[in-house]
Amino acid sequence: MDEGKRMTERSADIEHAARFLSKSELVAIPTETVYGMAANAFDEEAVKEIFRVKNRPFYDPLILHTNSIEKIEHWGVAIPPRLRRLAETFWPGPLTLLLPRSEKISDSVTAGLDRVAFRIPSHPLTHRLLEQLDFPVAAPSANPFGYVSPTSAEHVLKHFDDKIAMVLDGGACDVGIESTIVGEEDGKIIVYRLGGLSVEQIERVIGNIEIRTSSSKPTAPGMLVRHYSPQKELIVVDTQEEVEEHSVEKSAYILFMLEAPEFNLPNVIHLTPGGNHEKAARQFYQALRAWDDDASIKRIIVERLPDFGLGRAINDRLKRAAGAESKEK
Ligand code: TXA
Ligand code: MG
Repeated sequence: MDEGKRMTERSADIEHAARFLSKSELVAIPTETVYGMAANAFDEEAVKEIFRVKNRPFYDPLILHTNSIEKIEHWGVAIPPRLRRLAETFWPGPLTLLLPRSEKISDSVTAGLDRVAFRIPSHPLTHRLLEQLDFPVAAPSANPFGYVSPTSAEHVLKHFDDKIAMVLDGGACDVGIESTIVGEEDGKIIVYRLGGLSVEQIERVIGNIEIRTSSSKPTAPGMLVRHYSPQKELIVVDTQEEVEEHSVEKSAYILFMLEAPEFNLPNVIHLTPGGNHEKAARQFYQALRAWDDDASIKRIIVERLPDFGLGRAINDRLKRAAGAESKEK
């Protein structure tokens, strides 16, 4: 890979993206959830480059992206019946399935685990790109490890300009929060990461499922106590009293139903005055990054959402972004 000075192409040119990927280069791709840092998953050097550029530990496995169930099966990965039902219902979309891995999938992709994560994203540009490729692309979120995921080409370039071949610019992400990760263990359907597909939507198709996103014994770094974190101090609140109590001069706010105190009024992003969780998810990372990038802001105060639908996934990210009980950086 070229270590010298380079220019990162920013365009919507699928042919260019396909060519770069075929030549072991990294391309950031838009998906409906967040932007991914993509490489040819069958190219060991390219996969290693993902870990290097993101500063990502090798124990953190990667999600593979493609455009059809047939291709997944062609690569030797079988989809068990109940997971297949979910795939047929929700793909293309914000669902990742943990599937029994095949020999074609390398240890660097799965971090040596016996399952491989697959997803068929719905973003039209990326969907068309994936149609052209005869390999899956490995793509973790396109942020430095542990930082907030990117929901626009600008977010990607902020950290990776001149470090990757290209960002395929597909505009702002529609869902705005990472995919929901689902697998099957001992006949039980389990959600390992809450995300852009709600638990309620999944249960409507498959009945009761188990949520196992606890951080006590993480099997995935997305489950770590501190992850998805901004640089600034972040405080999660539930009530107007807590807003007042934690407000200092130069606090910024991401609020849903509550109000900021008078003296900080310009520093408020109201996620969804209408109370719509989908809209809140779409704007959430954008808002977090906006305040994190604003040098005048000292502390970010965020309101927890009602715990249903995508509110659950956002609250999960909030907890991890704040580092839960431990507030250390
Ligand atoms: O929406 C998304 O899922 C985005 C877009 C780009 O598709 N991708 C994404 O990837 O969020 P990443 O790497 O940032 O988060 C994927 C999570 C990680 O926490 C990883 O540990 C877990 O999925 N994961 C991947 N493969 C796994 C496996 N075989 N077993 C368990 N966890 C796995
Ligand atoms: Mg990530």
